Amino acid sequence: MTKRIFSGIQPTGSAHIGNYLGAIKNWVELQNQYDSVFCIVDLHALTNPEAANQMQKKIFDSTTTLLAAGIDPKKCILFVQSHVHEHTELTWLLNTITPIAELERMTQFKEKSKHLKQSINMGLFDYPVLMAADILLYHTNVVPVGEDQRQHVELARIIARKFNNQFNKTFILPEPLIYKSSARIMSLADPTKKMSKSIPHGCLELTDSPALIKEKIKKAVTDSGNEIKYSPKKPAVVNLMTIYASFSKLSFDQIEKKYKGKGYAQFKDDLAKIIIKELKPFQEKKKALDKKPEQIRKILENGAKKAQSIAQKNLKEIKQKMGLL
Ligand code: AMP
Ligand code: TRP
Repeated sequence: MTKRIFSGIQPTGSAHIGNYLGAIKNWVELQNQYDSVFCIVDLHALTNPEAANQMQKKIFDSTTTLLAAGIDPKKCILFVQSHVHEHTELTWLLNTITPIAELERMTQFKEKSKHLKQSINMGLFDYPVLMAADILLYHTNVVPVGEDQRQHVELARIIARKFNNQFNKTFILPEPLIYKSSARIMSLADPTKKMSKSIPHGCLELTDSPALIKEKIKKAVTDSGNEIKYSPKKPAVVNLMTIYASFSKLSFDQIEKKYKGKGYAQFKDDLAKIIIKELKPFQEKKKALDKKPEQIRKILENGAKKAQSIAQKNLKEIKQKMGLL
């Protein structure tokens, strides 16, 4: 039987090339190999008051981004988390067997609490249990995520093991599938920080116009010297080479050879052209989809139906195992 994967992405609206190369592109490939369930996790986003702004628009935008990038609703299940209420119901059930001490260990919770200080909400603390419910509800074998989510998948395994011991063997222990670290894209303004929306001028959005892409690449920081070389002493150049390699399929070796003696200006000029060319089909497709909100709504409705038919059956069994009537 084909193994099932489940993964989630927060509806942040527009996406940057880090999201694309680090996550979305993986999904597009995985949907061909696995029984794939992909979820836009709006309930997770609600734990962050800022992310919760204009949620409907962001959900639409995230959906058209995924579809334009090649996620195909005929090959996978694509749906919105809040459309399948079984996720929150299972969260409650799992809450009753999750030790608080495990949740207090979560790095992401500790990090986020630092920023939020006074306004830490209960949802933020319970976030990993909702994620475990997402995963376990579908008897998932494999969970593709970035390194930062490894601990949450580990917690899902702990909860699954505990449930199986306490009640009856019910859950498969899900395995994380960690995205390659070479797909980690750093800010164009500061190669020591991950590319993210929070550093706007170092962030290349998938929907940026050709002129803007050219300008951002031109302004991207470089290292001293003018050689295109893959070296730990040249983190900014390595980052640009990583983007180049990801969009062109050339290896780092091939890129070094190609630009031997040519300097940064030529390299950046070509890099901008490659990104513009590679993003063009995506941008055209997204623009077309953005004009068809009814079609998007239908796709998500169908996705939720398919997800729910699995979720409903599994949740019923889980409740029985727990001794509910
Ligand atoms: P975020 O919205 O930051 O949670 O990111 C959504 C997904 O994109 C996550 O699964 C991350 O693994 C991935 N991602 C975010 N930023 C980057 C980046 N700069 N480089 C590579 N992947 C990223
Ligand atoms: N928490 C994940 C993130 O921020 C998103 C997510 C929610 C997820 N539920 C999931 C990922 C289930 C994998 C499986 O990236």
